[in-house]
Amino acid sequence: MPPRKTLADLRSRRWFAATDMRAFAHRQRMQQMGLRREDVLDHPIIAIVNTWSDLSPCHAHLRERAESVKRGVLMAGGMPFELPAMSLGEVMVKPTTMLYRNFLAMEVEELLRSLPIDGVVLLAGCDKTTPATVMGAISAGLPTLFCAAGPMLSDRYLQPGQPPRTVGAGTHTRMFWDEYQAGHISEPEWVKLEAHMTRAPGTCNTMGTASTMTAIVEALGLALPGSTAIPAMDAGHTRMATSCGERIVGLVWEDLKPADLLTPGAFRNAAVVQMALGGSTNAAVHLLAMARRAGVALTLDDLDAIARQVPVLANLFPSGDRLMEDFHYAGGLPALMDRVRAHLSLGEMTVTGRTLGENIDGRHSLDDETIRPLDRPVSADGALAVVRGNLAPDGAVMKVSAASPQLLCHEGRALVFDSPAEMVAQCNDPALDCDETTVMVLRYAGPVGAPGMPEWGGLPIPKKLLARGVRDMVRISDARMSGTHYGSCVLHVSPEAAVGGPLALVRTGDRIRLDVPARSLQLLVPDEELAQRRAAWQPPPPAATRGYTRLYQQHVTQAHEGCDFDFLQGPGPNPEPAIF
Ligand code: FES
Ligand code: MG
Repeated sequence: MPPRKTLADLRSRRWFAATDMRAFAHRQRMQQMGLRREDVLDHPIIAIVNTWSDLSPCHAHLRERAESVKRGVLMAGGMPFELPAMSLGEVMVKPTTMLYRNFLAMEVEELLRSLPIDGVVLLAGCDKTTPATVMGAISAGLPTLFCAAGPMLSDRYLQPGQPPRTVGAGTHTRMFWDEYQAGHISEPEWVKLEAHMTRAPGTCNTMGTASTMTAIVEALGLALPGSTAIPAMDAGHTRMATSCGERIVGLVWEDLKPADLLTPGAFRNAAVVQMALGGSTNAAVHLLAMARRAGVALTLDDLDAIARQVPVLANLFPSGDRLMEDFHYAGGLPALMDRVRAHLSLGEMTVTGRTLGENIDGRHSLDDETIRPLDRPVSADGALAVVRGNLAPDGAVMKVSAASPQLLCHEGRALVFDSPAEMVAQCNDPALDCDETTVMVLRYAGPVGAPGMPEWGGLPIPKKLLARGVRDMVRISDARMSGTHYGSCVLHVSPEAAVGGPLALVRTGDRIRLDVPARSLQLLVPDEELAQRRAAWQPPPPAATRGYTRLYQQHVTQAHEGCDFDFLQGPGPNPEPAIF
């Protein structure tokens, strides 16, 4: 695209090029760091927002990658500055990184708003860091390029008496845990497994939330084509990071901002990709939140409609049986998008300065077992279903491709837990009154209730049933589930129990009917009885009396609205602060 901006138009000039005392101090303080005044006066200033930390294993390499981004920025004539941001290592953060997604989004928005920045490269990838940094960048409104951390390498695991297996993060942890609980894996074997599955820095290598979200951001047009699937430890990843640095400078001159790219068609493309990948249910929350930031009206019903049209083609865990490294060798996201071309809005502009269609021209699948042809999908039923009914008036989601087909139409007796502590304690009790037809319910685990809507929605199968060989049951909650996990779990029930959603009225022994083909979830209790229960219902006391958690509980929206803060939704940007 032709340049639309000149040096004199740059935002950073408002800090550095004025003749007042503040501008003197701005330049003086750059010189304090050994920079020359022309370094900041004559070049676009590029922020590299880095979510690296020593407690974020998926991002362990991002400090080094920031240097590659800087190299690219310098070669293209920009001036790079690295800005550390909250790292949110998914597995380390308690109670859940989801509590802090909006915190990181606010941090990114305010960093970009308050500092002399002309364009930004976002270095992120572990689950919430992608939607968070992108949400913040959308609201800040500056030219933005997303550089995905990249998936970790696959591992191989040899178990006595079994053929060698390729194993990856998340999905296999859950599988091995269930086998361990069932007594099929010994204690020493379990300890040995700790050194497996997560073999190298990088994000989870299944089609969990991390890969789903980075793919979605690539489909939105905010990342370089094919960047999503490059393994973190591949030299190609370093080269891609350099290209990001080089390209962001062009984006600044071309003045191509998220608002120019994030159209309704771009969000539709993102949803098509989510479904073709068999992506994480978490995307149903994050995609809606990102769309709302961009002023695009995307709903759960839109996602359900797209899921009905687009089959799952990516044969990746947990819907399939391969890992992100295989996906990269098969041609990655451009090759997958080529397969679902007919569903895409190919004319959408992207960060390359070319359209999505131009980006994927000539990119074809190199491995039809990993990226399946349309006539041989991994699942023809779609990746996601949105169910509604008197138990979830505003909707609930289910990952159909990772559920058991025989449980998609199911009626059973409810077994209700009000907290994960209660659930965990009872699930190990051999006397627990349940069988494989029981419908397990966990509530008060939503955005306000938990708070932070943790990934408790993959409720554990009771130990006595595991021992009998049961590996799946219908489970219902207002929580989320890890994108790497599988099972017949109805998630994100909205409104949640803590704000008086009907989930709060269920009692152990009630009957619940799930009918996924009919998109229905019903509590089979008469309305009069439910009205009586509602009259007697007391909201739980707020969990937090101070700090960020209190702010979160007061302002978080429900799952079907994206769980953003009410005061952050809607298109930005926030006005640039005045300087005197
Ligand atoms: Fe970081 Fe899965 S734990 S991507
Ligand atoms: Mg995850």
